[in-house]
Amino acid sequence: MTQNDILLDTLYQSMINYYQKDPARIQHFVKVHSFARLIGRLEGMDEKSLLTLEAAAFVHDIGIKPAEELYGNCDGKKQEELGPGPAREMLEECGFEQTIIDRVAYLVGHHHTYTDIDGMDYQILVEADFLVNLFEGKSPADAVETAYERIFRTKSGKEICRTMFGIESMEIINDSNKNRNPVRRA
Ligand SMILES: [Fe+2]
Repeated sequence: MTQNDILLDTLYQSMINYYQKDPARIQHFVKVHSFARLIGRLEGMDEKSLLTLEAAAFVHDIGIKPAEELYGNCDGKKQEELGPGPAREMLEECGFEQTIIDRVAYLVGHHHTYTDIDGMDYQILVEADFLVNLFEGKSPADAVETAYERIFRTKSGKEICRTMFGIESMEIINDSNKNRNPVRRA
């Protein structure tokens, strides 16, 4: 076990405790973390970036709880507003260093914002969250394809998305539809 493994396991347990009696939220961040870690490793992230990404994946939805308690709902903007505070607190308690805490707090505060993605950690967190949300939200095939085109940028994130949701077969279907009903573009 490395020091980073110990930090991440401590954070993992803290998040299970934070979302106690809410297995859906717990299983959500477990999946997002797992995809984020895989993509981060496949994309060759350095150790510190990977630690930042993995920590962000565990806590990314920490703002849902205060948003629900305060407003009775958890829309993306309120989560972004209310997430960084408790994220900082939890990471400090677990012993993370300050530069990582600052970056994770930024990612928690921006993970529903898809413009100005300013780093691999941010990009991969968004991709991992989409991989899980497209499934959990039972998104139809066209929504998956739109997300694939608009959101996914990393080679491994794209490959996982294509493989899991069968994007290639959708492209073939769309192509054959286009051939059947040719649309002239001005
Ligand atoms: Fe999420």
